[in-house]
Amino acid sequence: MSERDLQPGGREQWATKIGFMLAAMGSAVGLGNIWRFSYVAGENGGAAFLVLYIAIIALIGIPIMMAEFSIGRKAQSDAVGSFQKLAPGRPWVTAGFLGVASAFIILSFYGVVAGWTLKYFVSYLTGGLWSEPAEGYGGFFEGFIMSSAEPVVWQFLFMAITVGVVLMGIKKGIEKANLILMPTLAILLIIMSIYSLTLGGAQEGLSFLFAPDWSVLTEPGIYLAALGQAFFSLSLGMGALITYGSYLSSKERLPGATAGIASMDTVFAIVAGIMIFPAVFAFGIDPAAGPGLVFVILPSVFEAIPLGVVVGLAFFFLLAAAGLSSAISLLEVAVAYFIRKFGWTRKATALIIGGLIFLLGIPSSLSMGVMADFTIFGNVFMDAMEGLSDIFLPLGGLIIALFVGWGWKKAQSLEASDFGASAIGTIWLFLLRFVAPAAIAVVLVAQFY
Ligand code: PFF
Repeated sequence: MSERDLQPGGREQWATKIGFMLAAMGSAVGLGNIWRFSYVAGENGGAAFLVLYIAIIALIGIPIMMAEFSIGRKAQSDAVGSFQKLAPGRPWVTAGFLGVASAFIILSFYGVVAGWTLKYFVSYLTGGLWSEPAEGYGGFFEGFIMSSAEPVVWQFLFMAITVGVVLMGIKKGIEKANLILMPTLAILLIIMSIYSLTLGGAQEGLSFLFAPDWSVLTEPGIYLAALGQAFFSLSLGMGALITYGSYLSSKERLPGATAGIASMDTVFAIVAGIMIFPAVFAFGIDPAAGPGLVFVILPSVFEAIPLGVVVGLAFFFLLAAAGLSSAISLLEVAVAYFIRKFGWTRKATALIIGGLIFLLGIPSSLSMGVMADFTIFGNVFMDAMEGLSDIFLPLGGLIIALFVGWGWKKAQSLEASDFGASAIGTIWLFLLRFVAPAAIAVVLVAQFY
C-alpha cells in the first residue's frame, strides 16, 4: 500500500489520494484487461459483446464500485468486518464471506496464467522465443501448458512473489513502481496496436471489435460472460475495493476517483482488443480460440515488428507486473480477513493463505494436460473455477448494491459516497436500488434455465 500513516485507532491509512488511486488501479488493471478480455470478447462475438460490456460497466460496475469504496471507507475494516461493523447480526455479511471465497477461487487460476506470462518473459530473455519454434507458436504454447510440472513451477514462482510482497509489506514499493509501469504498458499497447493494424487484418479485426453483429445477443451465455468479465476486470464484487477503501481517510472524494479508475480500466481493455483482433485475422486464427489467444497471437506480432524480441520481453514483463498488483489485492482480501479473525501475524497469514491458494491452483494448471478428463459439469477444472468467479462476483455485487441501496438510509448513502444531495447522487442510488440488482438477478437466475 502507499505511504501511510496510522489513524487514531492504529489502522493503516493511505497518506495521499494518489496512493489510493494507484493501488485501486493496480488492482483493476491486470491479466483481466488483456488475456481475459480478449479471449472472452473473442468467444462472444466481439463488438456486440463490447457494447454490452461497456453498458454494464456504466450502469452496474461504476455504481457498485462507488458502493464498495463507500462501505470500506466508512467501516474501516476488511470485506467481512465491514459488514459486521456496519450491520451487526444482519445477513449482509454473506457478501464478505463470498468475497473471501472468491479471492481463493480467482487467485488460484490467476496465479496459473500469471505463471504463463513469467514463462514467456523468460523465454524472450533466454532465446526460447527469439524465433518461431519448430512446432509453431500454437504448438509451443500447447506443449507448455499441457505439461505437468513446468507450468506449476512458474505458478509457484508467481505466487511466491505475491506472498513475498504481501508479507514484507512492500506493496507501497510495488504501487510506486506501477506509477511508471502502468503508463509504460499503456504506451506499449498503443504502439503494438498501431503495428497490429499494419499486418493486413485491420479491417476485419476492427469490424469484429467495433461493428456489432447484434444477432449474438440471442446467445444466452453472452450476458453472464459480459457481467462476469466486467466484475473481474474492475476487481468488483468481492470486497477488494472495500478493503482498499478502508485505508482511505474521509478527506478524499470518491466519485472522481471511481470514474477515473473505471474508465482507465476500460480503455486498457479496448486498446488490448485493437492490438489483438487485427492480428488474429492477419494470422488466420479463430477469435474464439479460447484462453490461449494472446499467448499464441502476440509472439507472431512480435516476430513481425522491428525489435520484436525486445518488445516481447518488455510486454510480458509489464503484463506480469500488472498481474502482480492485481494478485496482491486478491491475496489481501483473504489475508486482511484472517489476520483480524484469528489474530495471526501478517507473515504467517500471507504464507498460509498464499500456500493454500497455490495448492488450489494446481488442478487448474493440470486441467490442460493430465487432468483434462476430470470435468465439473462438463468443464475442466480451470474453466469451472472461472465459471464460479463469473457467478460469485456478480452475486457479491448484488448484495453490496442492495446493502447500500436499501440497507442504508438514503441520506447515509449519499453522505458516505460524497455525492451529497445532488442529482447524480439520486441517479446513483436509483441504479443501486433497482437497475443493478434487477439486471444481475435476471442474468443469474437465467443461468438455471
Ligand atoms: N481486476 C483484475 C484483472 O483485471 O486482472 C483481477 C482481479 C483483481 C479481480 C482483484 C478481482 C479482484 F478482487
